Amino acid sequence: MQVVRTRAELRAVLAAAPRPVGLVPTMGWLHAGHVSLVERARADSATVVMSIFVNPRQFGEAADFEQYPRNEGRDLERAEAAGVDIVFAPTVAEVYPPGFDTVVSVGAISWPLEGAARPGHFDGVATVVAILFALVGAERAYFGLKDYQQVRVIRRMALDLALPTTVVPCETVREPDGLALSSRNARLTPAGRAAAPVLRRALLAGSAAIAGGERSGDAVRAAMRGMLETEPAAEPDYVSVADPDTLAELETIDREALLSLAVRIDGVRLIDNEMTRA
Ligand code: PAF
Repeated sequence: MQVVRTRAELRAVLAAAPRPVGLVPTMGWLHAGHVSLVERARADSATVVMSIFVNPRQFGEAADFEQYPRNEGRDLERAEAAGVDIVFAPTVAEVYPPGFDTVVSVGAISWPLEGAARPGHFDGVATVVAILFALVGAERAYFGLKDYQQVRVIRRMALDLALPTTVVPCETVREPDGLALSSRNARLTPAGRAAAPVLRRALLAGSAAIAGGERSGDAVRAAMRGMLETEPAAEPDYVSVADPDTLAELETIDREALLSLAVRIDGVRLIDNEMTRA
């Protein structure tokens, strides 16, 4: 596995790399969810590139950026064991050199949910992913569906900018108790970790209500909130039952619905979602 830190080094190693190339963009603190993305990329690609970059432009609060878990040595070991060929681990100045003054801002799909709760977040994500897509020129890039809206935003951005990289959405990987894997889980206290599976239980309460015939969006949101209220440590940010294409909240559930939520536990903001069919 080669580790490169500059745009020029990346271009040089890629010039000699067999195609197709699969890209797995990450912010490090690798877990089994990232490994599953690498496995998927490995199956499709002759060369697997992983980027490891904690992108300051997608964090609203400086504290959230500072506290994001980092351990490059551990990440490189895990990347190599997972079968990555090239790791791109740049500095902030390498990604955003002096004079950098461009923002990639995706429209309506980025506005609700995470976009409303974290102003500027998706501009930061779309900008860094556009740079990564331009630098790597991969045939495919792999993203986890825990961040469903992120996948939709990136796909829109790649289509609209005619970037040659196809976005491949990959299933969420979960702990045995249902908690979606996330680098942020590392920041939970033991009590917070014990409380965190309530996100999954809330999603399952919503989908059980739909499976039981409930068609009111408000009633399903109430079922999800009710489950969150059983866990005193859980502070909901939003609870949503939305059209998976537009992410507009559904009044009546008469088609596929995306159930999603964002919840703070121990001050750590966790998100998860579940797709259901009426
Ligand atoms: O999902 C993430 O880890 C990040 O948002 C991404 C896509 C690597 C961009 O920084």
